[in-house]
Amino acid sequence: MKKSMVISAVSAVGLLVVACISCASCAGKGDEARLRESFNDEWRFHPGDAAGAETVEYDDGEWRALDVPHDWSIEGDFAVENPATPGSGALPGGIGWYRKSFVPQQRFEGERFYIDFDGVYWNSTVWVNGTLLGHRPNGYISFRYDLTPYLRQGEENVVAVRVDNSEQPNSRWYTGSGIYRNVWLVRTGELHIDNWGTFVTAGYEVAENRANVSIDVTVRNASAEAVEAVVWTEILDPHGKRVAATERTGLAGLAIETGECAETVQRVAVAGPELWSPENPAIYTAVTHVEREGVVVDSYETPFGIRSFEFDAGKGFFLNGEAMKIKGVCMHHDLGCLGSAVNVRAIERQLEILRAMGCNSIRTSHNPPAPELLDLCDRMGFLVMDETFDVWRKRKTEHDYSHHFGKWYERDLTDHVLRDRNHPSVVMWSIGNEVLEQWLHVETDTMDIQQANTLLNFAGRMSGQRYIDTTMHVNALLTRKMADMVRELDPTRPVTAGCNETRPFNFLFEADALDIIGFNYHEADWLAFPEVFPGKKLLVTESTSALASRGYYMMPSDTTFVWPVSWDVRFTQAVNHCSAYDNCHVPWGSSHETSLKMMRDHDWVSGIYVWTGFDYLGEPTPFWWPSRSSYFGIVDLAGFPKDAYYLYQSEWTTDDVLHIFPHWNWSEGQEVDVWAYYNNADEVELLVNGRSLGRRAKQNGEMHVAWRVPFEAGVLEAVSYLDGREVLRREVRTAGEAVAVRLTPDRTRIEGDGSDLSFVTVELVDAEGVAVPTASELVRFTVEGGRIVGTDNGDPTDGMSLSRPERKLFSGKALAVVQATGRGSVTLTASVEGIGSETVKIKVK
Ligand code: GAL
Repeated sequence: MKKSMVISAVSAVGLLVVACISCASCAGKGDEARLRESFNDEWRFHPGDAAGAETVEYDDGEWRALDVPHDWSIEGDFAVENPATPGSGALPGGIGWYRKSFVPQQRFEGERFYIDFDGVYWNSTVWVNGTLLGHRPNGYISFRYDLTPYLRQGEENVVAVRVDNSEQPNSRWYTGSGIYRNVWLVRTGELHIDNWGTFVTAGYEVAENRANVSIDVTVRNASAEAVEAVVWTEILDPHGKRVAATERTGLAGLAIETGECAETVQRVAVAGPELWSPENPAIYTAVTHVEREGVVVDSYETPFGIRSFEFDAGKGFFLNGEAMKIKGVCMHHDLGCLGSAVNVRAIERQLEILRAMGCNSIRTSHNPPAPELLDLCDRMGFLVMDETFDVWRKRKTEHDYSHHFGKWYERDLTDHVLRDRNHPSVVMWSIGNEVLEQWLHVETDTMDIQQANTLLNFAGRMSGQRYIDTTMHVNALLTRKMADMVRELDPTRPVTAGCNETRPFNFLFEADALDIIGFNYHEADWLAFPEVFPGKKLLVTESTSALASRGYYMMPSDTTFVWPVSWDVRFTQAVNHCSAYDNCHVPWGSSHETSLKMMRDHDWVSGIYVWTGFDYLGEPTPFWWPSRSSYFGIVDLAGFPKDAYYLYQSEWTTDDVLHIFPHWNWSEGQEVDVWAYYNNADEVELLVNGRSLGRRAKQNGEMHVAWRVPFEAGVLEAVSYLDGREVLRREVRTAGEAVAVRLTPDRTRIEGDGSDLSFVTVELVDAEGVAVPTASELVRFTVEGGRIVGTDNGDPTDGMSLSRPERKLFSGKALAVVQATGRGSVTLTASVEGIGSETVKIKVK
């Protein structure tokens, strides 16, 4: 992108507060000038390479018809032989081709056609009508191509995409393969707001109770002549009411040369704004108009929020002036049995589950997320740490992004920030996770001075500043350069990085370029932080890495299992499962309680991002095959909470919580450790078959109470009390033999838009309706009026493809995810041999 001139119109534009302006000239061509249409439907897909498939003539008649987002890996079978290895999910990779034919109908002369990909994993090459548009290695970045010069109006045109995910492993977790995010066709007039062409910032002034909104607008002139443009912006409040408008920028307008862009800054104040926060995620909209010769030729909406925040070295994080701990989780991008194919409802469900646990922040580990995740975080009120890279130039897996870093990092980092900088949910950028550049490994650091200079100063787009320093290591200079780049594009948010070298000689710290020091793990070092890093701000960018299989318990529960013994030695056990009593974690991590306590008790710890909110495909630490997904989640891969979920709920919410576990199906006389998580109470009483085992209160800052109880079949009951008054009562019953199937959909009414989902939980129940916690039977599903998108049970060792319409129960549960294919209703039937079947009807709106 070449900027012909940058006109600062600030001086020409005064601040204007307008209470409710009647709609000025929204009419004209502008209303139809910009159109953003889904380009997801009716693609053709071919697994494997296909010579000549970029050409128009190529016959794709035999190819599979599908809609994107699409992830071909999730459709495959798990196998240890797959080159991805269990580390990135043990599913197939390879090469795949997509083609889509379409007939563009130009609406007016000079109309521009752009194709926007939210993300393609990875190494995508795109052609239109046989003409190469470009290549993009990064699998998480969003990108646009201009189709206009190559289109044949009113005739068939073909977009072809080749995706190459054949060189594996290229990731430390599951990536998915294909056009796994949304695709858009954007149509504009010749004079229009550029891709990611607005930057709205809103500084809130407490004393005046007003927000100073500034709108940075980049206008592109794609016409054959130099034109004058007038730009102005209206501000709509969260209820859609127009509350302010800027003046028309540049009295003389913007003179833009053909094919180039110009930028202008507009300012306006919003009086008495509604502030954005997790409790009240108020979204304003800036509607920016571009006029040419008195006619509006483009209108562009930018949702934004008005909020202030700061990190304080001693006191942690503040939002809108109020102290707030960041109660965060790290999340990878897969959606369990949906693979990485983006689905808004699936992401929303994850966030709903996390919200109910008290989580208020997401770290997009370790890559730019789907735009829909950020939209949901804006609307639902989550804070986001938006992260760009897991590797820089030193690799972590054989074929990873390190091979592309030198050529692409500036572009990818820039595009990431440009894309996401208007989201109110995003409160910081992370430029890397545990990058090996933290250290100087002589044996791997082969860069000579010329190469370092090329990387730092000539990699791509120049930022004017030269990164040459004879005293600073290249890794520190690189940190400084990337942090500077981010701040140049967005001066409103701090820059951090997740570091597992927590000592000051870490090159990322030595650069003195990070606004916030991000620690991964190393709890002991959180304590000494104020002395070791005086005046610096601390955020725990990653913590915990506790391990658990839902419903699997290893006793005695006060024995801690630190697995694997060492990260570089293969670890095996009789079964590949980890105990769910918060008594199992990796050597570099801790129990859930330990990091929660550390965060709670130290003001300078702004918050933590627990590794991880949900289990994800790949990284089956501490095991290897046949495990193929993680054990780190507070919630399992299917979305079923593990017991630790209620620990967080009791610590992170103010709702009354009482959770007792484990289940109550053991052998007679066996000693069983019973734990309870609770809050809003000072003690808990445990009763077995109505006999009290006494009341217990949390001791020594602990976050649970426990009893050792000889098992007897019947009812285990817990009652929490505050000042002697009963708060909550919970029970677990011994289940008898399974006699029936029970289906519980999360929603019984869904949209028939081809995207919405119902998540149906399957259990077996005894004659009294008590769910059998140990059931492991195979469930077969059939569906009418819809399709089964995937099935799961949260078992990291289940070798059956997640797209099959059958699933064994694991610790008593399984999940079927269904989607409507028409109107009316979807009927799901689940059958278990020897027990029976059950049907549930989901209405389609
Ligand atoms: C961290 C890393 C994460 C994940 C985690 C597992 O060191 O940043 O990506 O691998 O360990 O404990």
